[in-house]
Amino acid sequence: MTLRLTAVALALALAAPAITVAEVGGEAQFLETCAACHQPSGQGIKGAFPALAGDAFVVGDPQAVTATVLNGRGGMPAWKVDLNDSQIAAAITYIRSAWGNKASPVTEAMVAAERAKSAPTTARGAQAH
Ligand code: HEC
Repeated sequence: MTLRLTAVALALALAAPAITVAEVGGEAQFLETCAACHQPSGQGIKGAFPALAGDAFVVGDPQAVTATVLNGRGGMPAWKVDLNDSQIAAAITYIRSAWGNKASPVTEAMVAAERAKSAPTTARGAQAH
């Protein structure tokens, strides 16, 4: 038991410096908020939810992907109210690097910048009440 805990602590200590904040929990974030529709495999459900695996849009312009996730589109809800910048960055970084996708990470700062462009009432701290 002690040995196992030590091994876990060691693994965490070794892993920590190598990963950025945005990547921590990216998979967990995806599974919690996105996988119900897009599926854990990223394959989506044909005719209802688009596949994110091997999807040109997902691995394309990071700003466009971020804006889509923040603001929603078609049958997808907007995530800007429920998720903070870090959570959105983590989910997007995950979908851009999972299932064989190979695209650059999206940082919290990029999400914040994209969020600032959307309707003022949804920007954090901008609400009058
Ligand atoms: C309730 C179901 C649902 C959930 C949950 C959901 N999506 Fe979607 N998503 C959709 C649908 C439907 C579309 C297609 C929208 C359209 O008609 O253009 C979509 C489209 C997308 C696209 C654009 C794909 C493309 O090729 O244009 C991205 C990126 C995306 N979702 C990411 C996410 C992420 C990240 C999450 C979790 C934070 C998430 N989605 C959660 C239903 C969902």
